[in-house]
Amino acid sequence: MTHVVSFINLKGGVAKTTTLVQLAETLAFIKGKRVLVIDLDPQTNATIALMGEARWEAADEAGQTVAQLFLDQIHDTRVFDVNRAVVRGVSNLNRIRIPEDMELGPEVTYPRIDLLPSSIRLIEAQDRMADISTRSHYTVSPMTVIQRALEGRFSQYDFVLIDCPPNLGYITQNGLEVSDAYLVPTIADKLSTYGIPQIVKTISRLRTARHLKIRCMGVLVTKFQTGSNIHKRGLEALPELLERAFLESGEETAPLFEVRIPQANATAEAMDFDRSATNFRDKYGRQKSGSYSNLYELPMLLADEFMHRLDEWRAGGSA
Ligand SMILES: Nc1ncnc2c1ncn2[C@@H]1O[C@H](COP(=O)(O)OP(=O)(O)OP(=O)(O)O)[C@@H](O)[C@H]1O
Ligand SMILES: [Mg+2]
Repeated sequence: MTHVVSFINLKGGVAKTTTLVQLAETLAFIKGKRVLVIDLDPQTNATIALMGEARWEAADEAGQTVAQLFLDQIHDTRVFDVNRAVVRGVSNLNRIRIPEDMELGPEVTYPRIDLLPSSIRLIEAQDRMADISTRSHYTVSPMTVIQRALEGRFSQYDFVLIDCPPNLGYITQNGLEVSDAYLVPTIADKLSTYGIPQIVKTISRLRTARHLKIRCMGVLVTKFQTGSNIHKRGLEALPELLERAFLESGEETAPLFEVRIPQANATAEAMDFDRSATNFRDKYGRQKSGSYSNLYELPMLLADEFMHRLDEWRAGGSA
């Protein structure tokens, strides 16, 4: 069974992308899972971290990105081809090199990360999304573009992780439409947590209005600084903030993740695709001095908790 999870927060810069990439790499290369990453953010950060700039530029030029998928709907063109657009076997931790021209067939049979890359042109698409429903000859919902193009392929993967931009516009809603769950990464401070009730309320309304299955699987504290009083107070305030937010929306309160991702240069540096890494520990634990910290264990703990929660849901019949 495939779990589809959107990473979302209305606040920018709270480590949505970094956490998603870390988790995708852990699920694939430590846990042996098949992962599809969908990058819905025009900033293309997850895309660049996972496939590097050179390969992405070629994909963008060929119109094989998620932006083209939306632009095709807007302009009634047929440039996007899902078989070409989904890049197989991304990440600089991927040890199995797949030749670009190799025919693999539709089945994903071994652990790896595939990626539907994004493009800056997604901004253009975002601004014109409402045009999709008003196009003259047939009625198409602007919310189901991703669903129609990709949902049939989801069963090939154990996890589909969707990186959302920091807003709740049409493009994000396309991600929510196909998700079983959403995860809210946040810094434990006032400004980062301020928009959480808004997210909960909006997604709750969407779920009812569009009969979606999506539920919040939890809030994850990122970039945590143990010595910071602001973060300490923010963390203390979070349970009550969450309880209120979910109660007001008539939703079951989603728990805070027990794992917290600490602020660490090594984590930020690991997003550089061109920085070579010999293995997972080297990528996430290497320090300036050349020695290793145990930082690399955190994504593993996160993956354990993430999978455990989804399993519990499945057992309870909610996902
Ligand atoms: N655990 C961490 N420790 C230190 N720096 C981090 C950590 N996680 C992310 N960062 C840095 O914080 C910044 C924001 O991270 P990231 O791009 O993942 O956030 P985001 O929520 O996806 O942002 P956006 O809303 O712009 O998409 C980046 O410069 C990233 O390198
Ligand atoms: Mg991001």
